[in-house]
Amino acid sequence: PVRYISNHSSGKQGHAIAGALAAMGAEVRLVSGPVTISDPSGVSVTRVETAREMLAAVEGLLPADAAIMVAAVADWRTETESDQKIKKEPGKGAPPLTMTENPDILRTIGHHEKRPKLVIGFAAETDDLIANATAKLSRKGADMIIANDVSTKTGIGGAQGVMGGDRNRVRIISHDGVEEWPELSKQETAERIARLVADRLTGKR
Ligand code: PMT
Repeated sequence: PVRYISNHSSGKQGHAIAGALAAMGAEVRLVSGPVTISDPSGVSVTRVETAREMLAAVEGLLPADAAIMVAAVADWRTETESDQKIKKEPGKGAPPLTMTENPDILRTIGHHEKRPKLVIGFAAETDDLIANATAKLSRKGADMIIANDVSTKTGIGGAQGVMGGDRNRVRIISHDGVEEWPELSKQETAERIARLVADRLTGKR
């Protein structure tokens, strides 16, 4: 009830993509974890707190033409949650934390019987960006992986890091190869992604 394990994701990139697609006229459903930013306009929003809830909400929205999975979902969760604050006791040391695997939402949707025509995932990497993101393309059954470097050394680091900040620099990885985009605001990145989605769905690219 007091402490939890999380990451710096703000929802800014995902919300911007949902808003950009809605602005182009798409019917958009956004499934969002806990964020402090406001809902994008013209988008219907489902709020969830856990990976299991997110998977159920996303599956409940199928069929869809496209799925874009931007959330920084935890690969693992603690096996148990405590009802009471876990207290520090002198001489007892740190409590063990046993982790268990979360469902992989992108992988489930990428191999789903109601798989959308276009499935796009993201990859947040600190090293070997292209190799790691390319491996996710086939493993997760995606048509495209949008890779961003979230390391503080080579990525857009510090307080303005990709996770939580306002800017992003992505590589678009598909079965056609790798396309490098310049550093842009998350809004500009979202608008380019929305155009890419429209082009893919209409067969222009
Ligand atoms: O929210 P912001 O502050 O704007 O930051 C944006 C971002 C950095 C979070 C975003 O651009 C990004 O990179 N999102 C993906 C983060 C992530 O979890 O990457 P991953 O490489 O661990 O996962 C690969 C893909 O699998 C992602 O599409 C992820 O949504 C999906 N996944 C991961 C784990 C899991 N259990 N289920 C999933 O569906």
